[in-house]
Amino acid sequence: MIAKVRKAVFPAAGLGTRFLPATKAQPKEMLPVVDKPLIQYGVEEAMQSGVQNIIIVTGRGKSAIEDHFDVSFELEHLLETRHKRDLLATVRAISDMIDVSYVRQKEALGLGHAVLRAKELVGHEPFAVILSDDIIDGDTPCLRQLLDIYEFYNAPVVALMEVPRDSISSYGVVDAEPISHNGGKDRLYRIRNMVEKPKASEAPSNLAIIGRYVLTPEVFTSLDAVEPGSGGEIQLTDGLKHVLRSRPIYGYRFEGKRYDAGDKLGFLQATVEFALKRHDLGEAFRAYLKNLPL
Ligand code: UTP
Repeated sequence: MIAKVRKAVFPAAGLGTRFLPATKAQPKEMLPVVDKPLIQYGVEEAMQSGVQNIIIVTGRGKSAIEDHFDVSFELEHLLETRHKRDLLATVRAISDMIDVSYVRQKEALGLGHAVLRAKELVGHEPFAVILSDDIIDGDTPCLRQLLDIYEFYNAPVVALMEVPRDSISSYGVVDAEPISHNGGKDRLYRIRNMVEKPKASEAPSNLAIIGRYVLTPEVFTSLDAVEPGSGGEIQLTDGLKHVLRSRPIYGYRFEGKRYDAGDKLGFLQATVEFALKRHDLGEAFRAYLKNLPL
């Protein structure tokens, strides 16, 4: 019997230095793409994948995230008295959406350290990790794609994407062997090894780990055991490498388009493409873009 994934951990305690000064007093996860904060895209993806129990790892200056998912009585009252029914429904949907708990990472000691902070809330069961600065747009939510593989193999699965050689050194990179799954042989891999932020000349492949994971609770023991790695931080990649010693990990080259919204260019691309897709904005925005002297 394969345990169901019920919980998703959202590490959101990073400093967001690539987005300064916007992130000096405001969490990166609350930056809006069109009109929704980054983290809400991730939370909606978790829900659409069948995971309702959300654990957010926060740090100093992140209270806007808690307020966002909480009930706002004043705002709801104001919208009610002004008969703004649509907006009221939008605002209520956010607080009704999920069962959310928070845990604190006091110091930004790395992604692996942030995940380890969720150990008590996760308990002894498999769980998902979503990095909300990776926004993934696809017909099937990316996390759902990973869960399908997890449910078949009963093993941890990470999301993979091919990236150009000149940017490979920004990622965790895998050495992996393609395996056939459901008659196809081009998306699923069994991971042999992985390395965090390798030099382009030393990268084992062009397959990078993107911010979606389905993990099993052994990863907590591994994260406890690993020493700080690249950048002096406890890296999730190093924890996973440790897990590999005792059980297989799979990688899935997901279907969909990923935007690195933690980076300025990626954020702008997501903003333009999501705005163009909106029923209420797309047409006017397209007309505006066409008239720009590019
Ligand atoms: P990033 O590598 O994007 O780091 O973290 P960052 O600090 O958020 O941003 P930059 O690079 O300084 O601009 C990836 C994810 O891991 C979380 C971040 O919040 C983000 O969701 N994280 C990172 C933590 O929760 N704690 C950490 O110590 C580091």
